[in-house]
Amino acid sequence: MEPSFWHEKWQLQQIGFHLNQVNPFLVKYWPQLGLTENSEVFVPLCGKSLDMFYLAEQRHTVLGCELSAIAVEDFFTDNELAYQVTHIDDHAVFSADQVALYQGDIFTLPSSLTSSISGFYDRAALIAWPEEMRQQYVHALAALVPANVSGLLITLDYPQETLKGPPFAVSPTWIETYLTSYFNVELLECVDVLADNPRFVNKQVPWLNEAVYKLTRKS
Ligand SMILES: C[S@@+](CC[C@H](N)C(=O)[O-])C[C@H]1O[C@@H](n2cnc3c(N)ncnc32)[C@H](O)[C@@H]1O
Repeated sequence: MEPSFWHEKWQLQQIGFHLNQVNPFLVKYWPQLGLTENSEVFVPLCGKSLDMFYLAEQRHTVLGCELSAIAVEDFFTDNELAYQVTHIDDHAVFSADQVALYQGDIFTLPSSLTSSISGFYDRAALIAWPEEMRQQYVHALAALVPANVSGLLITLDYPQETLKGPPFAVSPTWIETYLTSYFNVELLECVDVLADNPRFVNKQVPWLNEAVYKLTRKS
């Protein structure tokens, strides 16, 4: 999607993707990555997700990237965290003790900033892109994740013709076709979450699978 699409969504607070709780898949599977305290974790297209709060609670240092200044400011103010703002190249950096959110375009985020990450977490980032832009995002993500670093990817899949994204459907076949040149991919769990998603039920989408994958950057 174009930046203007997301800026408008945040302006109008049309942020149905934002969860008021930590993602259960994150809580269930993050320990499998075996990261130590003080590890640096990258969260692409982070929004104001409470999942970053969970990662900080694990005593990780969180490095997020998010286009919207509204989202980034809300993350700190909603959670009553004092923050400072500095600038690095094209990005404004909003930071508190364990969290630094780079506000700007992921496509211009310098890979030097993520060179010391030990993990990453993609929830509603890959699936935010329409198919024609998705490979470009995967390429950018792969450039930002150093060799042998693992992360979690959470996707949704459903018959795309039944609903206009975002979120866009990403099938296991798409993952197999386009991610495996960059990442080793392991499916950890896949469940039908249709009943929990009224927007999809109302549009008579017949099924909706949420999947969590472990990705490890190939060297
Ligand atoms: C579907 S939301 C998911 C947010 C978050 N991951 C979550 O789980 O709540 C996608 C987010 O990506 C941001 N975004 C879109 N394009 C971006 C880009 N080129 N660079 C950085 N962030 C972007 C949007 O502003 C939006 O907050």
